[in-house]
Amino acid sequence: MTQTVYSRVIGTGGYLPEKILTNIDLEKIVDTSDEWIRERTGIERRHIAQDGQTTCDLGVEASKKALEMAQIDAKSIDLIIVATTTPDKIFPSTACLLQQRLGIKGCPAFDVQAVCSGFVYALSVADQFIKTGMSKRALVVGAETLSRITNWEDRNTCVLFGDGAGAVILEASNKAGILSTHIHADGEYEELLHVPSGPSKLPKTDEIAERTMSMKGNEVFKVAVNTLSKIASETLEANQIQKEDLDWLVPHQANLRIINATARKLKLTPDQTVVTVNKHANTSSASIPLAFDEAVRDGRIQRGQLVLMEAFGGGFTWGSALMKF
Ligand code: UT7
Repeated sequence: MTQTVYSRVIGTGGYLPEKILTNIDLEKIVDTSDEWIRERTGIERRHIAQDGQTTCDLGVEASKKALEMAQIDAKSIDLIIVATTTPDKIFPSTACLLQQRLGIKGCPAFDVQAVCSGFVYALSVADQFIKTGMSKRALVVGAETLSRITNWEDRNTCVLFGDGAGAVILEASNKAGILSTHIHADGEYEELLHVPSGPSKLPKTDEIAERTMSMKGNEVFKVAVNTLSKIASETLEANQIQKEDLDWLVPHQANLRIINATARKLKLTPDQTVVTVNKHANTSSASIPLAFDEAVRDGRIQRGQLVLMEAFGGGFTWGSALMKF
Protein backbone atom coordinates (compact mmCIF):
# COMPACT_ATOMS: atom_id res chain seq x y z
CA MET A 1 0.00 0.00 0.00
CA THR A 2 1.42 3.40 -0.95
CA GLN A 3 1.41 6.02 1.78
CA THR A 4 0.24 9.59 1.14
CA VAL A 5 3.12 12.03 0.82
CA TYR A 6 2.60 15.40 2.46
CA SER A 7 4.60 18.61 2.38
CA ARG A 8 5.39 19.33 5.98
CA VAL A 9 6.86 22.58 7.29
CA ILE A 10 10.19 21.93 9.05
CA GLY A 11 11.41 25.51 9.32
CA THR A 12 10.21 29.10 9.06
CA GLY A 13 12.06 32.39 8.89
CA GLY A 14 11.37 36.07 8.51
CA TYR A 15 13.36 39.22 7.94
CA LEU A 16 12.44 42.89 8.06
CA PRO A 17 14.81 45.68 7.09
CA GLU A 18 15.98 47.84 10.00
CA LYS A 19 14.57 51.15 8.84
CA ILE A 20 11.08 51.87 10.19
CA LEU A 21 8.73 54.42 8.64
CA THR A 22 5.85 55.42 10.91
CA ASN A 23 2.54 57.02 10.02
CA ILE A 24 3.82 60.18 11.66
CA ASP A 25 6.81 60.13 9.28
CA LEU A 26 4.36 59.83 6.37
CA GLU A 27 2.39 62.86 7.58
CA LYS A 28 5.49 64.87 6.62
CA ILE A 29 5.59 63.42 3.10
CA VAL A 30 1.95 63.42 1.92
CA ASP A 31 -1.40 64.88 2.99
CA THR A 32 -2.39 62.10 5.40
CA SER A 33 -2.77 61.48 9.10
CA ASP A 34 -1.86 58.76 11.55
CA GLU A 35 -5.54 58.62 12.50
CA TRP A 36 -6.74 58.07 8.91
CA ILE A 37 -4.18 55.33 8.24
CA ARG A 38 -4.94 53.48 11.51
CA GLU A 39 -8.71 53.71 11.12
CA ARG A 40 -8.86 52.67 7.47
CA THR A 41 -6.09 50.07 7.43
CA GLY A 42 -4.85 49.19 10.93
CA ILE A 43 -1.32 50.10 9.86
CA GLU A 44 0.95 51.93 12.32
CA ARG A 45 4.37 51.49 10.73
CA ARG A 46 6.28 49.63 8.04
CA HIS A 47 9.88 48.59 7.31
CA ILE A 48 11.76 50.02 4.35
CA ALA A 49 14.85 48.49 2.70
CA GLN A 50 18.02 50.57 2.82
CA ASP A 51 19.43 52.00 -0.39
CA GLY A 52 21.09 49.13 -2.19
CA GLN A 53 19.34 46.44 -0.13
CA THR A 54 17.51 44.16 -2.55
CA THR A 55 14.66 41.66 -2.44
CA CYS A 56 17.21 38.84 -2.62
CA ASP A 57 19.11 40.30 0.36
CA LEU A 58 15.92 40.12 2.42
CA GLY A 59 15.15 36.63 1.12
CA VAL A 60 18.63 35.39 2.08
CA GLU A 61 18.16 36.47 5.70
CA ALA A 62 14.70 34.90 5.97
CA SER A 63 15.97 31.68 4.35
CA LYS A 64 18.95 31.41 6.70
CA LYS A 65 16.61 31.63 9.68
CA ALA A 66 14.34 28.94 8.22
CA LEU A 67 17.36 26.68 7.56
CA GLU A 68 18.55 27.25 11.11
CA MET A 69 15.17 26.29 12.57
CA ALA A 70 15.00 23.19 10.35
CA GLN A 71 18.58 22.30 11.32
CA ILE A 72 19.44 21.23 7.82
CA ASP A 73 22.27 21.96 5.42
CA ALA A 74 21.26 24.37 2.64
CA LYS A 75 22.76 21.92 0.13
CA SER A 76 19.99 19.42 0.92
CA ILE A 77 17.40 21.79 -0.61
CA ASP A 78 16.26 20.42 -3.97
CA LEU A 79 13.77 23.10 -5.05
CA ILE A 80 13.72 26.88 -4.61
CA ILE A 81 10.67 29.00 -5.37
CA VAL A 82 10.61 32.72 -4.71
CA ALA A 83 7.33 34.62 -4.85
CA THR A 84 8.05 38.23 -5.69
CA THR A 85 6.76 41.19 -7.66
CA THR A 86 9.92 43.17 -7.06
CA PRO A 87 12.77 40.99 -8.36
CA ASP A 88 16.34 42.28 -8.09
CA LYS A 89 16.80 42.02 -11.84
CA ILE A 90 14.65 41.23 -14.88
CA PHE A 91 16.78 38.11 -15.00
CA PRO A 92 18.21 35.90 -13.60
CA SER A 93 15.26 35.16 -11.35
CA THR A 94 15.52 36.11 -7.69
CA ALA A 95 15.33 32.38 -6.93
CA CYS A 96 18.54 31.81 -8.92
CA LEU A 97 20.23 34.70 -7.11
CA LEU A 98 19.10 33.25 -3.79
CA GLN A 99 20.37 29.80 -4.78
CA GLN A 100 23.81 31.27 -5.49
CA ARG A 101 23.87 33.21 -2.21
CA LEU A 102 22.94 30.10 -0.20
CA GLY A 103 25.64 28.04 -1.95
CA ILE A 104 23.19 25.57 -3.47
CA LYS A 105 23.87 24.13 -6.92
CA GLY A 106 21.85 22.29 -9.53
CA CYS A 107 18.32 22.21 -8.09
CA PRO A 108 15.47 23.94 -9.96
CA ALA A 109 15.02 27.56 -8.90
CA PHE A 110 12.37 29.92 -10.25
CA ASP A 111 10.17 32.86 -9.36
CA VAL A 112 6.40 32.95 -9.14
CA GLN A 113 4.62 36.23 -9.83
CA ALA A 114 1.14 36.44 -8.38
CA VAL A 115 1.60 39.68 -6.41
CA CYS A 116 -0.01 39.46 -2.95
CA SER A 117 -1.13 35.87 -3.57
CA GLY A 118 2.41 34.94 -4.59
CA PHE A 119 3.31 33.00 -1.47
CA VAL A 120 0.17 30.85 -1.61
CA TYR A 121 0.83 30.22 -5.31
CA ALA A 122 4.47 29.27 -4.58
CA LEU A 123 3.40 27.01 -1.73
CA SER A 124 0.90 25.33 -4.03
CA VAL A 125 3.54 24.72 -6.72
CA ALA A 126 6.06 23.39 -4.20
CA ASP A 127 3.40 21.11 -2.73
CA GLN A 128 2.75 19.59 -6.18
CA PHE A 129 6.49 18.93 -6.63
CA ILE A 130 6.69 17.20 -3.26
CA LYS A 131 3.50 15.18 -3.63
CA THR A 132 4.61 13.84 -7.01
CA GLY A 133 8.06 12.91 -5.71
CA MET A 134 9.90 15.50 -7.84
CA SER A 135 11.23 17.19 -4.73
CA LYS A 136 12.01 16.16 -1.16
CA ARG A 137 12.95 19.49 0.41
CA ALA A 138 11.71 22.81 -0.92
CA LEU A 139 12.58 26.34 0.11
CA VAL A 140 9.62 28.63 -0.51
CA VAL A 141 10.19 32.35 -0.06
CA GLY A 142 8.01 35.44 -0.31
CA ALA A 143 10.18 38.54 -0.57
CA GLU A 144 9.47 42.12 -1.59
CA THR A 145 10.93 45.60 -1.76
CA LEU A 146 7.65 47.30 -2.62
CA SER A 147 9.13 50.64 -1.57
CA ARG A 148 10.90 50.58 -4.97
CA ILE A 149 7.62 50.57 -6.89
CA THR A 150 5.77 52.97 -4.57
CA ASN A 151 4.83 56.47 -5.63
CA TRP A 152 5.82 58.43 -2.53
CA GLU A 153 3.70 61.35 -3.73
CA ASP A 154 0.47 59.30 -3.88
CA ARG A 155 -1.28 59.12 -0.51
CA ASN A 156 -3.71 56.52 -1.88
CA THR A 157 -0.95 53.93 -2.03
CA CYS A 158 2.25 55.03 -0.28
CA VAL A 159 0.80 54.59 3.21
CA LEU A 160 -0.14 50.96 2.54
CA PHE A 161 3.04 49.06 1.71
CA GLY A 162 6.28 47.86 3.30
CA ASP A 163 9.33 45.68 2.61
CA GLY A 164 10.22 42.26 4.06
CA ALA A 165 10.72 38.56 3.43
CA GLY A 166 9.47 35.30 4.86
CA ALA A 167 10.46 31.72 4.15
CA VAL A 168 9.37 28.17 4.85
CA ILE A 169 11.09 24.87 4.26
CA LEU A 170 8.85 22.01 3.22
CA GLU A 171 9.88 18.39 3.49
CA ALA A 172 8.26 15.26 2.08
CA SER A 173 6.69 13.37 4.98
CA ASN A 174 4.21 10.63 5.77
CA LYS A 175 2.89 12.82 8.58
CA ALA A 176 0.16 15.31 7.67
CA GLY A 177 1.29 18.72 6.46
CA ILE A 178 -0.30 20.73 3.64
CA LEU A 179 -3.78 19.26 3.20
CA SER A 180 -4.84 21.28 0.17
CA THR A 181 -4.06 24.43 -1.79
CA HIS A 182 -6.48 26.40 -3.96
CA ILE A 183 -5.32 29.04 -6.41
CA HIS A 184 -7.30 31.23 -8.82
CA ALA A 185 -7.02 34.28 -11.06
CA ASP A 186 -9.21 36.65 -13.06
CA GLY A 187 -7.27 38.94 -15.39
CA GLU A 188 -10.38 41.09 -16.02
CA TYR A 189 -9.40 43.32 -13.11
CA GLU A 190 -5.98 44.31 -14.45
CA GLU A 191 -6.35 48.04 -14.00
CA LEU A 192 -7.84 48.13 -10.51
CA LEU A 193 -4.44 47.24 -9.07
CA HIS A 194 -1.34 47.43 -11.23
CA VAL A 195 1.92 49.08 -12.25
CA PRO A 196 1.13 50.62 -15.66
CA SER A 197 4.48 49.88 -17.31
CA GLY A 198 7.12 47.15 -17.33
CA PRO A 199 10.12 45.83 -19.24
CA SER A 200 8.00 45.23 -22.36
CA LYS A 201 5.20 47.78 -21.99
CA LEU A 202 7.36 50.88 -21.76
CA PRO A 203 6.20 53.94 -19.76
CA LYS A 204 4.18 56.35 -21.92
CA THR A 205 5.60 59.36 -20.09
CA ASP A 206 8.33 60.15 -17.57
CA GLU A 207 5.74 60.44 -14.83
CA ILE A 208 6.47 58.42 -11.71
CA ALA A 209 2.88 57.11 -11.76
CA GLU A 210 3.77 55.10 -14.89
CA ARG A 211 6.36 53.06 -12.96
CA THR A 212 4.67 52.67 -9.58
CA MET A 213 1.66 50.95 -8.03
CA SER A 214 -1.77 52.31 -8.76
CA MET A 215 -4.88 51.04 -6.99
CA LYS A 216 -8.59 51.80 -6.93
CA GLY A 217 -8.62 50.91 -3.25
CA ASN A 218 -12.31 50.79 -2.42
CA GLU A 219 -13.16 48.70 -5.51
CA VAL A 220 -10.37 46.25 -4.68
CA PHE A 221 -11.60 46.15 -1.10
CA LYS A 222 -15.10 44.96 -2.03
CA VAL A 223 -13.90 42.20 -4.36
CA ALA A 224 -11.25 41.12 -1.83
CA VAL A 225 -13.73 40.66 1.04
CA ASN A 226 -16.16 38.60 -1.08
CA THR A 227 -13.48 36.53 -2.75
CA LEU A 228 -11.68 35.69 0.48
CA SER A 229 -14.90 34.48 2.00
CA LYS A 230 -15.48 32.21 -1.01
CA ILE A 231 -11.97 30.78 -1.00
CA ALA A 232 -12.28 29.98 2.69
CA SER A 233 -15.55 28.07 2.04
CA GLU A 234 -13.97 26.28 -0.94
CA THR A 235 -11.09 25.14 1.27
CA LEU A 236 -13.30 23.93 4.12
CA GLU A 237 -15.56 22.03 1.71
CA ALA A 238 -12.64 20.41 -0.13
CA ASN A 239 -11.37 19.05 3.19
CA GLN A 240 -14.81 18.30 4.60
CA ILE A 241 -14.13 20.27 7.74
CA GLN A 242 -16.11 22.89 9.65
CA LYS A 243 -15.13 26.43 10.59
CA GLU A 244 -14.87 25.26 14.20
CA ASP A 245 -12.11 22.81 13.26
CA LEU A 246 -9.71 25.63 12.35
CA ASP A 247 -7.14 26.67 14.92
CA TRP A 248 -5.53 29.58 13.07
CA LEU A 249 -6.08 32.04 10.28
CA VAL A 250 -2.85 33.39 8.78
CA PRO A 251 -4.16 35.89 6.25
CA HIS A 252 -2.45 38.13 3.74
CA GLN A 253 -1.93 41.42 5.56
CA ALA A 254 -3.41 44.16 3.40
CA ASN A 255 -5.96 45.79 5.67
CA LEU A 256 -7.12 45.00 9.21
CA ARG A 257 -10.75 45.54 8.18
CA ILE A 258 -10.42 42.86 5.48
CA ILE A 259 -8.70 40.48 7.93
CA ASN A 260 -11.39 41.01 10.58
CA ALA A 261 -14.21 40.52 8.07
CA THR A 262 -12.71 37.19 6.94
CA ALA A 263 -12.11 36.06 10.52
CA ARG A 264 -15.69 36.94 11.52
CA LYS A 265 -17.10 34.91 8.64
CA LEU A 266 -15.00 31.97 9.78
CA LYS A 267 -16.17 32.48 13.37
CA LEU A 268 -12.54 32.82 14.47
CA THR A 269 -11.70 35.04 17.43
CA PRO A 270 -9.02 37.75 17.20
CA ASP A 271 -6.86 35.39 19.29
CA GLN A 272 -6.95 32.85 16.45
CA THR A 273 -5.99 35.35 13.77
CA VAL A 274 -2.36 36.28 13.20
CA VAL A 275 -2.10 40.02 12.58
CA THR A 276 1.10 41.81 11.60
CA VAL A 277 -0.33 44.49 9.31
CA ASN A 278 -0.03 47.04 12.13
CA LYS A 279 3.75 46.59 12.26
CA HIS A 280 4.62 45.52 8.71
CA ALA A 281 1.90 47.10 6.50
CA ASN A 282 1.26 45.21 3.26
CA THR A 283 4.42 43.35 2.22
CA SER A 284 2.64 41.54 -0.63
CA SER A 285 4.02 38.01 -1.10
CA ALA A 286 6.07 38.30 2.12
CA SER A 287 3.13 39.01 4.40
CA ILE A 288 1.87 35.45 5.01
CA PRO A 289 5.27 33.81 5.64
CA LEU A 290 6.27 36.72 7.90
CA ALA A 291 3.07 36.40 9.95
CA PHE A 292 3.37 32.61 10.01
CA ASP A 293 6.98 32.76 11.17
CA GLU A 294 6.11 35.21 13.94
CA ALA A 295 3.32 33.02 15.32
CA VAL A 296 5.41 29.83 15.05
CA ARG A 297 8.38 31.42 16.82
CA ASP A 298 6.38 32.96 19.65
CA GLY A 299 4.69 29.60 20.26
CA ARG A 300 1.14 30.54 19.29
CA ILE A 301 0.97 28.07 16.41
CA GLN A 302 1.66 24.59 17.78
CA ARG A 303 2.45 21.30 16.05
CA GLY A 304 -0.70 19.44 15.03
CA GLN A 305 -2.87 22.58 14.75
CA LEU A 306 -4.91 23.39 11.68
CA VAL A 307 -3.82 26.57 9.90
CA LEU A 308 -5.66 28.33 7.07
CA MET A 309 -3.67 30.76 4.93
CA GLU A 310 -5.45 32.97 2.41
CA ALA A 311 -4.51 35.80 0.08
CA PHE A 312 -5.86 38.19 -2.50
CA GLY A 313 -3.91 40.45 -4.82
CA GLY A 314 -3.30 42.12 -8.16
CA GLY A 315 -4.39 40.26 -11.26
CA PHE A 316 -6.70 39.62 -9.55
CA THR A 317 -5.20 36.50 -8.02
CA TRP A 318 -6.34 34.72 -4.90
CA GLY A 319 -5.71 31.49 -3.09
CA SER A 320 -5.53 29.51 0.11
CA ALA A 321 -3.62 26.72 1.78
CA LEU A 322 -4.81 24.50 4.60
CA MET A 323 -2.14 22.74 6.62
CA LYS A 324 -1.68 20.71 9.71
CA PHE A 325 1.40 22.32 11.22
O1 UT7 B 1 -2.94 43.48 -1.11
C1 UT7 B 1 -3.61 43.50 -2.32
C2 UT7 B 1 -5.02 43.82 -2.18
N1 UT7 B 1 -5.19 45.16 -1.67
C3 UT7 B 1 -6.16 45.39 -0.85
O2 UT7 B 1 -6.84 44.47 -0.45
C4 UT7 B 1 -6.43 46.82 -0.45
C5 UT7 B 1 -7.90 47.05 -0.50
N2 UT7 B 1 -8.30 48.42 -0.22
C6 UT7 B 1 -8.14 49.03 0.98
O3 UT7 B 1 -7.49 48.51 1.87
C7 UT7 B 1 -8.85 50.34 1.21
O4 UT7 B 1 -9.74 50.58 0.15
C8 UT7 B 1 -7.88 51.55 1.33
C9 UT7 B 1 -7.18 51.51 2.66
C10 UT7 B 1 -6.88 51.55 0.21
C11 UT7 B 1 -8.66 52.86 1.28
O5 UT7 B 1 -9.67 52.87 2.28
P1 UT7 B 1 -11.18 53.28 1.91
O6 UT7 B 1 -11.92 53.27 3.17
O7 UT7 B 1 -11.63 52.36 0.83
O8 UT7 B 1 -11.01 54.77 1.41
P2 UT7 B 1 -11.33 55.39 -0.03
O9 UT7 B 1 -10.35 54.92 -1.05
O10 UT7 B 1 -12.79 55.24 -0.32
O11 UT7 B 1 -11.05 56.93 0.26
C12 UT7 B 1 -11.81 57.66 1.22
C13 UT7 B 1 -11.23 59.05 1.32
C14 UT7 B 1 -11.03 59.73 -0.02
O12 UT7 B 1 -11.37 61.10 0.14
P3 UT7 B 1 -12.80 61.66 -0.38
O13 UT7 B 1 -12.83 61.38 -1.84
O14 UT7 B 1 -13.83 60.89 0.40
O15 UT7 B 1 -12.71 63.09 -0.01
C15 UT7 B 1 -9.56 59.61 -0.26
O16 UT7 B 1 -9.05 60.63 -1.08
O17 UT7 B 1 -9.95 59.01 1.93
C16 UT7 B 1 -9.01 59.74 1.13
N3 UT7 B 1 -7.70 59.17 1.29
C17 UT7 B 1 -6.85 59.52 2.27
N4 UT7 B 1 -6.95 60.43 3.26
C18 UT7 B 1 -5.91 60.54 4.11
C19 UT7 B 1 -7.11 58.19 0.56
N5 UT7 B 1 -5.89 57.92 1.04
C20 UT7 B 1 -5.71 58.72 2.10
C21 UT7 B 1 -4.64 58.89 3.01
N6 UT7 B 1 -4.79 59.81 4.00
N7 UT7 B 1 -3.51 58.18 2.95
